[in-house]
Amino acid sequence: MKFCVQPGGSLTGRIRVPGDKSMSHRSVMLGALAEGQTQVSGFLEGEDALATVAAFRAMGVKIEGPDNGKLFIEGVGLNGLAAPEHALDMGNSGTSMRLLAGLLAGQEFTATLTGDESLCKRPMGRVISPLERMGAVIASEPEGRPPLIIHGQGTLQGIHYDLPMASAQVKSCVLLAGMYAKGRTSVTEPAPTRDHTERMLRGFGYNVERRNGVISLEGGGSLKGSTIDIPADVSSAAFFLVGASISPGSDLILEHVGMNPTRIGVLNILGLMGADIQVLNEREVGGEPVADLRVRHAPLKGIEIPEEEVPLAIDEFPALFIAAACAEGRTVLTGAEELRVKESDRIASMAEGLTTLGIQNEVRPDGIVIEGGTLGGGSVSTYHDHRIAMSFAIAGLRASAPIDVLDCDHVTTSFPGFAALASKAGLLLHEAADA
Ligand code: S3P
Repeated sequence: MKFCVQPGGSLTGRIRVPGDKSMSHRSVMLGALAEGQTQVSGFLEGEDALATVAAFRAMGVKIEGPDNGKLFIEGVGLNGLAAPEHALDMGNSGTSMRLLAGLLAGQEFTATLTGDESLCKRPMGRVISPLERMGAVIASEPEGRPPLIIHGQGTLQGIHYDLPMASAQVKSCVLLAGMYAKGRTSVTEPAPTRDHTERMLRGFGYNVERRNGVISLEGGGSLKGSTIDIPADVSSAAFFLVGASISPGSDLILEHVGMNPTRIGVLNILGLMGADIQVLNEREVGGEPVADLRVRHAPLKGIEIPEEEVPLAIDEFPALFIAAACAEGRTVLTGAEELRVKESDRIASMAEGLTTLGIQNEVRPDGIVIEGGTLGGGSVSTYHDHRIAMSFAIAGLRASAPIDVLDCDHVTTSFPGFAALASKAGLLLHEAADA
């Protein structure tokens, strides 16, 4: 399926984008391993989070839903999972694979984690190595690629781990394995990354400490079933924040958006570029800050993106590159080599599409330089990456000619209903079969 986008239009009205992907995964994992029942609302019914649901069902957990964002989970307790009969297929989802690797390392059975072509190319050595230090036995393809065969031994040892890269997935993997380990497990991160695991563990009654930058927990505790209200995903809201910022006449309200300080790099960066975004009705829901965002068109200027914002906006760079293409002057991104190991190499995929649309850019090993200019039209490849697809779709709002965005099927991994919601807000988009 491809997106055919007509140039022009603006974004107006009030919309709510689907639930947060990171929190949706974690709600299923912790709900499944809790004692008692967990009710989730606002759950993201996208393929990635559904892969996590399917994995726990395959390990004997009763999960009702999702039905209109509601899930009902009968927790089995930390030691109540059953060995799955088949390999657990995580589809496109790196979060499912890396977090589950931590949980499976602590079980007393063997399980295999596999995924689609993109996921099977992604690096898992980053989770294998700390888990092996904890005593896990894991087989993988060369260079730590999936499938992973995790031979649970039922005995892990707590470790201290200094994360070599700013990755919430690796941090979460180690902490989740730590629940099954003897003694204390602790991690430090080179820069703050999203802390949903820590917050949600506490919400389920599991003590997690953070002192002087060291995050730690004691093994052998338990989780208590909980009620979770998941806010709209700021990473999905990002496409609309950029889309409205670049298109004259836009005035859009995004409702109930998660505003966790470890996730709002996109707001900080757009703010530095001159965007007009108002944060309204700030509140806290289930231990996570939430707000409504009003975004209006504003002229943007190119900036040097502060490196400390990179982990806080790691999934939003494809959309931010479109903002940079529409800004006056040059935008420089450095310190973002992690973008090269996402669902695609996001620096290369975006650079190629920007070049097709007539935007000058220079690729660097850890980032990109983008010269603001006039977006033209053309046919762009997405490398089957959902965020590349949605980014080039919103580029249509400022393009001078139609854009065909190829291979958009993966958009459903994080944002089911994107085309309908974006059209409702004013993007001139229709879906068509790929030739
Ligand atoms: C995620 C962490 C990030 C992010 C991914 C979701 C999570 O990955 O890119 O979409 O839920 O923990 P890294 O931690 O590998 O940067």
